[in-house]
Amino acid sequence: MATTSATVTATESGLQELAKRHLWMHFTRHGAYRDADVPIIVRGEGPYVWDEKGNRYLDGLSALFCVNAGHGRTELGDAAARQVSELDFYTLWSYAHPGAIELASRIASLAPADLNRVFFTNSGSEAVESAIKLARAYHQRTGNPRKTKFITREVAYHGTTLGALAATGISALRQEFEPLVPGGYQVPNTNSYHWPADRDPLWAADQIEEKILYEHPDTVAAVILEPLQNAGGCIPPQDGYFDRVREICDRHNVLLVSDEVICAWGRLGHWFGCQRYGFVPDVMTVAKAITSAYVPMGGMIVSDRIAEPFMGGKEMFAHGSTFAGHPVASAVAMANLDVFEREDLNDHVLRKEGEFRAMLDSLRDIPIVGDVRGAGFFHAIELVKDQETKEGFSDEESESLLRGFLSGELFRRGLICRADDRGDPVIQLSPPLICDTEQFEEIENVLRPVLMEAWERLEK
Ligand SMILES: Cc1ncc(COP(=O)(O)O)c(C=O)c1O
Repeated sequence: MATTSATVTATESGLQELAKRHLWMHFTRHGAYRDADVPIIVRGEGPYVWDEKGNRYLDGLSALFCVNAGHGRTELGDAAARQVSELDFYTLWSYAHPGAIELASRIASLAPADLNRVFFTNSGSEAVESAIKLARAYHQRTGNPRKTKFITREVAYHGTTLGALAATGISALRQEFEPLVPGGYQVPNTNSYHWPADRDPLWAADQIEEKILYEHPDTVAAVILEPLQNAGGCIPPQDGYFDRVREICDRHNVLLVSDEVICAWGRLGHWFGCQRYGFVPDVMTVAKAITSAYVPMGGMIVSDRIAEPFMGGKEMFAHGSTFAGHPVASAVAMANLDVFEREDLNDHVLRKEGEFRAMLDSLRDIPIVGDVRGAGFFHAIELVKDQETKEGFSDEESESLLRGFLSGELFRRGLICRADDRGDPVIQLSPPLICDTEQFEEIENVLRPVLMEAWERLEK
């Protein structure tokens, strides 16, 4: 049955029915909403959003690590409107337009070293997909056609298109869609919370070299890593990790791709996450907060060295998509970066991250709080059954703790954050970069009683 236009104009209560009947939400268990309301977000202002019943929530996840400048910035909409009245759309296939040119130049001026060439996409998955293709094509052109494999980390999320999914190290997300693009291999990540105390701190970095040697350096094209790994709960690198990885990549002529889809645009207090950890990748992938997600946009920022074989004579990178670098997205990205610069958002994160972290650390007296980790405005709490032994939860316990209680209860009390069990169970916080003491207190006022109650439920 197709819907008639009359049924599409919904009243507020009708929205629930229509959502349940017609909308296919992403990564969502629809069964969970059979007897419960779909959370329908209708308005946003600063760090807050409101649902269709008028309830206010602190958006402690920046709408999935996206709305870094905060909600309701009408100047981003004004920039979009101005762009539409000037030039609605033109493609970057053989043509250019001022918006994409100016944005690419501005990004190059912010990026480290010789990362000067910007290839736009529409999403993070497309950016990662593009980086995989670029790495393969680069090695083909430079005399190493067998270099096709890419190494990523366990539990890391790099997107859903089949190449990006082969980079994703979460087996539950991959299984139904196999066979994936061949060539994706995973190594351990840097989550040291459960490591033996005497393990070499650079063990995880060295695992990358072991994998390259095992697969043979002649077959490995790229290593793809987030500066601070999101999935698994905001996993920071060890000191010296990226120096070691950079050395390994150089030794074996393997491209280092920094997947900055979350870590760029101030999330860690810098334009790019690699700047926080002092390494220079060959390629960066970005998306999400490049426009603070007011419109979709992604991209790949490439070093001159890697771009060079594609720039001369009759050469071309045979890859692209119609909408990438859209004038409206470019205009919104420029306006978003204006906000960042005018309000000094990167600096604000660096000044306030200690206070944010101290608030989370203060929750360690609750027995269910195991590890607290992260950087900038991007932190996680790993939940445990026993703080001493660091014993975690079984799959069933995780399910009832996270989905049966925590997610719903945090939301009910007005805090949007992420209760995630793609690795060990964690609660993740990634608030808009405008947040300050008032919002940190609000987060604590919700987290503390909810975590206490979660612990009491476990005790029963
Ligand atoms: C590190 C990383 N890479 C890639 C992606 C995929 O981005 P998108 O959802 O825009 O396709 C994500 C999404 O969260 C991500 O976190």
